[in-house]
Amino acid sequence: MTNTIIRSAKPEDAEELIEIIKDVSTKHRVFDHDEFNKTVEEEKEYLSKLEDNHLFLVAIVGDKIVGWLELFPYKSKFKRHISGLIIGIIDDYQHQGIGSLFLEKAINFAKEKGIVKISTEISENNLASQNLVTKFVFKQEGKLEKELFIKGKFIDTLIFGKII
Ligand SMILES: CC(C)(COP(=O)(O)OP(=O)(O)OC[C@H]1O[C@@H](n2cnc3c(N)ncnc32)[C@H](O)[C@@H]1OP(=O)(O)O)[C@@H](O)C(=O)NCCC(=O)NCCS
Repeated sequence: MTNTIIRSAKPEDAEELIEIIKDVSTKHRVFDHDEFNKTVEEEKEYLSKLEDNHLFLVAIVGDKIVGWLELFPYKSKFKRHISGLIIGIIDDYQHQGIGSLFLEKAINFAKEKGIVKISTEISENNLASQNLVTKFVFKQEGKLEKELFIKGKFIDTLIFGKII
């Protein structure tokens, strides 16, 4: 998309970021936990202490943050070679190429940092996200049946992975 700037998130972005993360994660399932409820101070601190192999990007249109991507290293010493992927774009800016811009950057970052695999879990009904990762040659590695219970319905989640 023209006029979109993708850059690393800065601690000063915390307040605006929290707003869009809350907005996107209430409308779509982004996290496993129920609610995103970090304070501005907590988010500022989080953004100021990212490890060298932890990518946190924001997409800016005009002077507004419209999306974010996080590629975070798994904590277990047996899984440090894997990074998890979270991505969210506010509704008015979806399907305009921003997710693709983000993924291109994330894959390049993973190559530079020697990350071996990117892994992500996507709800079975989230076709936009499945299509996005498939476009970047992620493979479906499995399905977790009845993994989520949302609004009275069980939902399967699909595990997607990309070897870098
Ligand atoms: C999933 C998401 C990140 C995709 O980002 P995006 O900026 O809309 O993606 P792009 O515009 O780059 O599109 C990339 C591909 O995704 C697919 N896609 C995007 N929007 C779609 C939609 N509404 N329906 C079906 N496929 C869609 C298409 O295959 C598209 O490729 P194409 O442009 O060649 O047709 C975005 O829709 C989003 O933030 N959704 C809400 C949060 C979320 O579900 N996050 C993922 C779980 S962590």
